[in-house]
Amino acid sequence: MKPFLIIYFSGVGNTKAVAEQIKSYANKIPTEIYSVENLPNDFSVDNYSAIIIGTPTYHSKPAKPLMKFLATVNPSRKIPAFIFTTCGLYSENCLRILAKECLKHKIIPIHSASYRCSATDGMLLTPFMDCWFHNEKDLQLKTKKDFSTFISKLKSHSKSDIPKFKWYTPLNYPNKMLGKATTFPIYLHKDRCVNCGKCERNCPQGAITEINSYPVINKAMCMNCYRCIHHCPKLALSLFKNKAVEKVWKN
Ligand SMILES: Cc1cc2nc3c(=O)[nH]c(=O)nc-3n(C[C@H](O)[C@H](O)[C@H](O)COP(=O)(O)O)c2cc1C
Repeated sequence: MKPFLIIYFSGVGNTKAVAEQIKSYANKIPTEIYSVENLPNDFSVDNYSAIIIGTPTYHSKPAKPLMKFLATVNPSRKIPAFIFTTCGLYSENCLRILAKECLKHKIIPIHSASYRCSATDGMLLTPFMDCWFHNEKDLQLKTKKDFSTFISKLKSHSKSDIPKFKWYTPLNYPNKMLGKATTFPIYLHKDRCVNCGKCERNCPQGAITEINSYPVINKAMCMNCYRCIHHCPKLALSLFKNKAVEKVWKN
């Protein structure tokens, strides 16, 4: 039997952690796990019998690097998949969008799941809202259950299972538009910056360049994943203009 593939994009680490958790359940099934940013040269989805795909929810949609990866996929046969997203609060129609894109590329989602994890977005501005900085209760139990459901669906040759359109999500559109419109600027606190280049290396969009040894962010390319902030060892990048942010997230 061909191995399973787990493929994910993770801005800051939640989706990676869930992907790795899922891999640990597949102990008897040979499974390879990759970030879309780190694929081997000879990578081909044709080498796998089933795929597990993970993405964070960014503004109610799957992350762009994952969608870009999917656009390049063209297997010679249909491949069953389990798709999942991690979100800070609510994933809306993210999984439906992802499932439809998968179908276009002969990847057939037969199971999907959304996991609430600590928020990594503008919520960073609200350190007092502690509830947004925790993974949901029983996350491990849920991922385990979803993995075994996926295996049973695989065995019973289940048909594609596209998440239904959540009609009530338009109620959240004003909030979503506000979220998109108010992309918070990222400030550099030069007194803390040690020019280590970690922000530049970790930017999934390649939006950071060094000018006069300091990082400069190209706003048009930035997707506001804030990975640069999370990776800065000196807390030199911050959503606050006047003071460097202290780490407020947990787990
Ligand atoms: C730019 C951005 C947009 C986000 N949009 C949403 C959203 O629309 N709904 C939601 O519930 N969480 C949202 N989040 C929170 C992330 O989905 C959540 O923290 C996720 O687990 C991050 O996964 P990662 O660590 O793999 O990047 C957003 C985070 C970022 C950085």
